[in-house]
Amino acid sequence: MNDCTRGGPTGVGVGVRFEHWAELERASRRIDWLELIPENFIGQGGWRRRMLDGARTRWPIAVHGVSLSIGGPDALDPGYLAALKGLLDELEVATYSDHLCWSSAFGTQYFDLLPLPFTEEAVRWAAGRVRRVSELLERPVLLENIAYYAKMPGGTLSEGEFVSAVLAESDAFLLLDVSNAYVNAINHGHDPIETLSALPLERTRQIHLGSYEPDPQGVLLDHHGARVSSESWALFRQAIRRVGEVSVSIEWDANLPSLDRLLDQADLARQIMNETLAGVA
Ligand SMILES: [Fe+2]
Repeated sequence: MNDCTRGGPTGVGVGVRFEHWAELERASRRIDWLELIPENFIGQGGWRRRMLDGARTRWPIAVHGVSLSIGGPDALDPGYLAALKGLLDELEVATYSDHLCWSSAFGTQYFDLLPLPFTEEAVRWAAGRVRRVSELLERPVLLENIAYYAKMPGGTLSEGEFVSAVLAESDAFLLLDVSNAYVNAINHGHDPIETLSALPLERTRQIHLGSYEPDPQGVLLDHHGARVSSESWALFRQAIRRVGEVSVSIEWDANLPSLDRLLDQADLARQIMNETLAGVA
């Protein structure tokens, strides 16, 4: 297994895309780990396979899925989950992460991360599926808090209560996306620190830092197309004070930066985490 203290790679990783591979092959700067999307590699051979083989010999890898649709109505796909387990085993990955959302229904894939209704029924449905996925993959599952722009009808719980209940009932862990917490707070008229604090921070095993941009109406959209904002860095400090040392990943996968610019963000995250842990920030 990878070097892990809490079930995953340690330090500050970066999410990388195919466009980064040429730079990665030449990279000499510190890279603690790489976050990869399994959907880009499952069932693929050729140059994708060669990239994967090259990367895994140099860096620990975390696998972050986007298509599980863990709260959706469609049956889990045993063929996909078997292939996913094969990839996780091959890469010696300790945990698997995806999003607490739905992204497909009745056979249609929406290629978007959509919010679940914040109801007790949805808690039971999602939690049961998370437990099943964890059993099939034979490793702990981390679920990310998504950015949501509208509340599904019928909700009786807050976002924090919903995420907490699903993770408690499924015994899963939190992939805390700090930028999504900020976006949700602003878009829904809440205080960012209160939004962060309402999430089950004690279950945090990894943090994501990304970016957002306002639409013409001023709604903040989860975008991953720029540097981490000062507001997200401030909330990151709050999160580290609560969570302690934790695995962190930078998400910048639109308006793709050079690897150097991406690694500058990882260096800054490492510096801020260390300063916060030392109590000087
Ligand atoms: Fe994220």
